[in-house]
Formats: sequence, structure tokens, C-alpha cells
Amino acid sequence: MKLAIINGPNLNLLGKRETSIYGDISFEDFLTKLKNQYANIEVSYFQSNIEGEIIDKIQETGYTYDGIILNAAAYTHTSIGIADAVKSVITPVIEVHISNVTNREEFRHKSYIAPNCKGIIIGFGLDSYRLAIEAFLNKK
Ligand code: DQA
Repeated sequence: MKLAIINGPNLNLLGKRETSIYGDISFEDFLTKLKNQYANIEVSYFQSNIEGEIIDKIQETGYTYDGIILNAAAYTHTSIGIADAVKSVITPVIEVHISNVTNREEFRHKSYIAPNCKGIIIGFGLDSYRLAIEAFLNKK
């Protein structure tokens, strides 16, 4: 099984960004543990602060991978381009968020991407990504 994790803007700062919300572990450290835990799965990782690069990566992985785990971060609440990319590809996408966006500012309640996703997993910290892997595994 081949899964792509795609992270959006400012998630490169995990571990030092608003640690009371996002925790103090860098994504790289988390990813190392995750890959060890799921050694039988091929997990690729891409992060960008640029909307078009996220769209390119969704297009690139969206016809050959078995699943995409997408945390579009702030673009979740603004980007019709990313929403359209998710709708265009054949690979199923699970939207994840580290924080529970529904109990934060109102602008975070809206996701343009979620309606085009297989499902959403929010509010479990970095464990949201692992739960998304489990969801893809349970479908196989
Ligand atoms: C986030 C939630 C978004 O609202 C925010 O812009 C982020 C991170 C999360 O994972 O909790 O950057 O996607």
C-alpha cells in the first residue's frame, strides 16, 4: 500500500509553532515513528507553504497512490483550487487536522475540501494522521 501525506502552510513549523495547540513534536520526528510503526506501508511525505505546489502534489499522487492524507492547514478554509484537485483525482483523500477546528475560530469551521474527501479526522493531535492510515488499512 502506498500512501501520501501532504501538509499545507506553516506545518513545517510543528514543534515550535503555537505548541499549546499543535504540540511540541516536529513532523519529521513524528513521521519517523509512524513509518517504523507501519513498516509494511510505503508512506511519502510532502509539505509546502504554496497552494499551487499542494495542487501539483495531489495531481501527481492522485492516480497511482492508494490514499492521500491531506492536512491543507489554512488553505482548508480558503482554497477552491485544492478542493477541485481533490475532486479531480481518483485516489481517495482523507482530510486531517491536528486541532479540533470546530471548537476554534468560526473561520476554521468551514472546509472547502471536506465534501470531496472520503472522510475527515480532526482533533486527535498528530495521532489524526495515524488514524487516517488505520482508516485506509481497514478499507483494504
Ligand atoms: C490545522 C487547522 C487549521 O485551521 C490551521 O490553519 C492549521 C492547522 C490543524 O491541523 O489543526 O494550520 O490544519
